Amino acid sequence: MLMFLLWVALFLDVLDSFILPNTISKSVSSSSSTTRLFLGSNNVTLTIPKFSPSVEEYKDQDKDQEGYSSVLHKIHVRTLLSKEEAKKCLEMATTFAESTGSWNDPDWERHASYATCDFAVEDCEILESYLKDIGFDDRLWQHLSYLYDVDVNDLSYLDLFVAHYQAKSNDEEHDSSIMDRLEAHRDGTLLSFSLLLNDPNDFTGGGTFYDALRDVDQQQVSENSDERILHPGGIIRPKAEGQAVLHCGKILHGADVVTSGKRTVLVGFVDVDNRCIREGALAEACTNFGRMDVAKKRYKRQLSKGNKGWTLSNSRWLQGKAHVTGLVPAFSSAIRRAESEYQRLQKLKSEDRLLRRILLPRDERRESFFEIFDGDITVL
Ligand SMILES: *[C@@H]1O[C@H](CO)[C@@H](O)[C@H](O)[C@H]1NC(C)=O
Repeated sequence: MLMFLLWVALFLDVLDSFILPNTISKSVSSSSSTTRLFLGSNNVTLTIPKFSPSVEEYKDQDKDQEGYSSVLHKIHVRTLLSKEEAKKCLEMATTFAESTGSWNDPDWERHASYATCDFAVEDCEILESYLKDIGFDDRLWQHLSYLYDVDVNDLSYLDLFVAHYQAKSNDEEHDSSIMDRLEAHRDGTLLSFSLLLNDPNDFTGGGTFYDALRDVDQQQVSENSDERILHPGGIIRPKAEGQAVLHCGKILHGADVVTSGKRTVLVGFVDVDNRCIREGALAEACTNFGRMDVAKKRYKRQLSKGNKGWTLSNSRWLQGKAHVTGLVPAFSSAIRRAESEYQRLQKLKSEDRLLRRILLPRDERRESFFEIFDGDITVL
């Protein structure tokens, strides 16, 4: 069986005395939000298993291989809203969505390839100003900055929206105006989060699944099913409203199907300033992901034609003169490349490599605007 089962580490932080780490408390403003910044005592952190070849295999080629595990291999569950706050947000969101019909209208324009029944927070004034009043952004930035080793100044929203999932009845199976899941995908941004607004008892199923956690042995993660936050299939389900799953958006993930009830989440795509990003790392990963997709498609096409190989034809070049057609038998290596489990592992390897490389170590980051001007924009 796969070795990487052993690589998952889970730390269930027990209710602890409320101490803020120095690095964090320093940058917290003196406003009343200080004591609410880290609401959570139910911190959970999961680490994506190691998929890339061992350091030995790569030794001469690539020194970056040593980067496991990077901060981006970590998926965190953190409480970002109290239950009361989450409930208020849910009420505001529901009222707004019902008055505008947002939740019965997959939003093709905003999310070209992944329709979600959602609305942007900036379109719902009452929710936007509530989040502002409670200092939500500050809380989020503090957590992300601390967890992913990125300066607060380097973080910004690309999108913040409320998404709504709902179980489908049998005759709604093909109704595309209802969303009950989200297929596996990668986000445009380096960081993302999904914050549960509902009481978890309002629905069954749901949660965020990660391909890389799919084969993780449940027993290892938690003996006690009451504490279970990772479910079979690599699904993370927060245990209370107000809890968010924070992760690198480049990790292949999706939303598990909601089998009963309704699930509403606040979703954010968070950009990290380019100065922190290693050039070419993403392009390389995309090439590898794409290569696998093409191999799969070609093989599928062959199978559907009933062939076990590539069709050979030179008629296009020889234009009828001496053209031959024939069948090149598929090489076993080509078949292997097309097999879905093989493909999946190749992609997970590329993903692993990407997570190790994409974020530059602090001392390699380019100078930031704030460093150049020492925060004094009047010199401009
Ligand atoms: C939970 O994690 C945050 C960082 O995301 C940290 O500041 C806080 O101290 C942790 N809480 C506990 C109880 O360990």
